[in-house]
Amino acid sequence: MKDKVQILEDKIQEAYKGGGQVRIEKQHQKGKLTARERIHFLLDEGSFEEIGILVTHRTTDFGMDEQIFYGDGVITGYGTIDGRLVYVFAQDFTVFGGSLSETHAEKICKIMDMAMKVGVPVIGLNDSGGARIQEGVRSLGGYADIFHRNVMSSGVIPQISAIMGPCAGGAVYSPAMTDFTIMVENSSYMFVTGPNVVKTVTNEQVTSEELGGASTHSTKSGVTHLTAANDIDCLEQVKRLLSYMPQNCEDTPTKLPYMVEGEVREQLENIVPENANQPYDMREVIEGIADEDTFFEIHSNYAENIVVGFIRLAGRSVGIVANQPMNLAGCLDVDSSKKAARFTRFCDCFNIPLLVLVDVPGFLPGTNQEWNGIITNGAKLLYALSEATVPRVTVITRKAYGGAYDVMNSKHIGADLNYAWPSAEIAVMGAKGASEIIFRKEINDAKNPVEKLAEKETEYADKFANPYRAARRGFIDEVILPKNTRRKLIKAFAMLENKVVKLPKKKHGNIPL
Ligand code: HXC
Repeated sequence: MKDKVQILEDKIQEAYKGGGQVRIEKQHQKGKLTARERIHFLLDEGSFEEIGILVTHRTTDFGMDEQIFYGDGVITGYGTIDGRLVYVFAQDFTVFGGSLSETHAEKICKIMDMAMKVGVPVIGLNDSGGARIQEGVRSLGGYADIFHRNVMSSGVIPQISAIMGPCAGGAVYSPAMTDFTIMVENSSYMFVTGPNVVKTVTNEQVTSEELGGASTHSTKSGVTHLTAANDIDCLEQVKRLLSYMPQNCEDTPTKLPYMVEGEVREQLENIVPENANQPYDMREVIEGIADEDTFFEIHSNYAENIVVGFIRLAGRSVGIVANQPMNLAGCLDVDSSKKAARFTRFCDCFNIPLLVLVDVPGFLPGTNQEWNGIITNGAKLLYALSEATVPRVTVITRKAYGGAYDVMNSKHIGADLNYAWPSAEIAVMGAKGASEIIFRKEINDAKNPVEKLAEKETEYADKFANPYRAARRGFIDEVILPKNTRRKLIKAFAMLENKVVKLPKKKHGNIPL
């Protein structure tokens, strides 16, 4: 028996070495942790249980039968984060560059299947040279097996992808179908075709970093939701992100203990400027409403005219969708609509209530927007919010004009409670534009058209640049003082906690993709 124990121990020690010390050092020289070190930092101390440590590939071509590494380039298993069960896979770049073989894929699929059975999030730590070149189509099949599971798991269990090294070719589509992607700056990249192919096909000269680094995907494409300065920062952000989510679609996010006291926030009184054309930072409003230091922004450098993220409100996890007057005056455009729609749907999948903060002058005009489909893309946000059955509360801080008023979680599309600050202006359009249209003749015929326009503008503004017409119709439930917003919202979300809405029976809707 002693010998047999020794055999087992030797095999496990061999597995722990991954691709060997030389390759581990190379990994460290690039500023990257190894797959095992990443799992160690991600999970609670001592909680990791590995599954499939002794799996090896079955390839014999190209002398592969001479190169066998236990685990086959991916470490899989389960453990806990802050006491919560999660499944994890971490690709091991020291073994065949973390490339995905048939058996490597089988290991990932095995934990994905288990996670679905027990209703637990899956976290993938990606660091891979893509398809195992020596295996050909078996590797491609392995990718597709993962993709299919990503889709089946979507909306059932949260899926988070950390990109901590290369992620190229079709491999990018697994992270793309998970709920959140986070990329490590300067050591990770994602692209469908690399710089060499780009050069051949389009004659563009571009580096990997420019083409698909963290900075590119967090600002230009929006492919990544978050970026991290290094591996440790990345793993810390994964943990924080997870803290706002429940285990699965039938669960609710953990509510942290919180003593509600007074809850008047005077600082909210001074954020909206007197001049309606002056910008302000909506993040100050969010932070003024949220529990201290709980605002976790998603997609912060992409489509900055809308802010999305999570806060805690009296300990409760709440999703935020908020126009940002600091950028494009808070207009809705193609990118911001897509960004907010996807975030809304995530929250709705996982029972995270939504708070929508509105200061929107309308949709961004222009050929660029029209030709890029602002109609279809704006409809995504309208659709996503209309369909959301989680508790939905709106606060209009200033402008709510035109179609954007409807889209931004109006009562008419199913919001539960709609508040407005006294500074709110709810109308078809701004006073100047409106006056120029409806009083055109009167203005043109006037002795002094400029004076006339100003007079008409004031008349229109007096009538409509306020929240009271909407309040009289019940489209606004209450006009509230900014300083009382937090208190009102805490009570509103507590009241809505057991909200139940059943959607009409259907296979699935047809969101304008
Ligand atoms: C097998 C691979 C591999 C792969 C890397 N390796 N990629 N082995 N299949 N796809 C091995 C290398 O042979 C090397 O082995 C070790 O991993 C480390 O690789 P290096 O090249 O030394 O590392 P580095 O210089 O850091 O470059 C990393 C890299 C490069 C940029 C990822 O390895 C690379 O370009 N690899 C090929 C990428 C690729 O074309 N993949 C296929 C994409 S198509 P040793 O023994 O020396 O340590 C695809 C389709 C997916 O993925 C479709 C899904 C639907």
